[in-house]
Amino acid sequence: MFSPHGPTLRELAVQALSSVEHGYDLLAPKFDHTPFRTPDAVLDAVAAALADMGPFDHGLDLCCGTGAGTDVLRTVCRESVTGVDFSAGMLAVGREQVRSDGPPRVAWVRGDARALPFGPVFDLVVSFGAFGHFLPGELPGLFTQIHSVLRPGGRFAFPIGAPLRPASPWYWALLGFDTAMRVRNTLWRPPFVMYYRAFRFGDVRRELTRAGFTVEHRALPDFGRGPDGSPRCRLMVATRGSGAPQASPA
Ligand SMILES: C[S@@+](CC[C@H](N)C(=O)[O-])C[C@H]1O[C@@H](n2cnc3c(N)ncnc32)[C@H](O)[C@@H]1O
Repeated sequence: MFSPHGPTLRELAVQALSSVEHGYDLLAPKFDHTPFRTPDAVLDAVAAALADMGPFDHGLDLCCGTGAGTDVLRTVCRESVTGVDFSAGMLAVGREQVRSDGPPRVAWVRGDARALPFGPVFDLVVSFGAFGHFLPGELPGLFTQIHSVLRPGGRFAFPIGAPLRPASPWYWALLGFDTAMRVRNTLWRPPFVMYYRAFRFGDVRRELTRAGFTVEHRALPDFGRGPDGSPRCRLMVATRGSGAPQASPA
């Protein structure tokens, strides 16, 4: 699963026994050589879908890590792109490797997604590969935060995979991972919250609507369809209701 440049088993074990924030600080220099970075195929498919919906002016990559989604935003935002993450280590790698010779301007902000340090200044928020770090009970607060940083009419967009079926080996692999995490979090402090199976389409849709979004989704055609004909991967697009426009970011 890991390239020769990726973390050793020992390094992964130390990271997994840390808090989420510190674990990512430790992993940051090797993160892009792990399967935890969002694959280019997903980034490219989302970039193409966003290009059809845009252009946008000010974009935010929530839980940006080393900047996989920040780079996508550079292709669809005209004025500014901001990456926010609570790991200083991940932000440092992102700052080093994502092109910053704008436009758009690129900024990196250390902050917690559950208490975002912005006003309603963005017209696009994206997030990749990070929702497993939030417990289902945290979704209402997280979505309210995202709603609060969008301008009226602004969009929150993210890819979401179809639920896996028990016939798929991935179903059992992720169930095993989540079970191991639950055992780890019962026995060890600080917790490392990362559950692959907790972010479910129906719950997500309901909580987005409750937070005030109008929700739609579209198939990402590159990933094809499953045996029941439904898309294997979709782009969820949640739109903040329109109203008076707000100020731009500095
Ligand atoms: C699996 S990485 C994904 C990084 C990047 N988005 C990607 O797709 O490659 C998850 C990221 O979420 C960040 N993260 C997790 N919980 C967070 C929180 N509450 N606030 C801000 N960042 C958070 C971690 O620090 C980490 O950089």
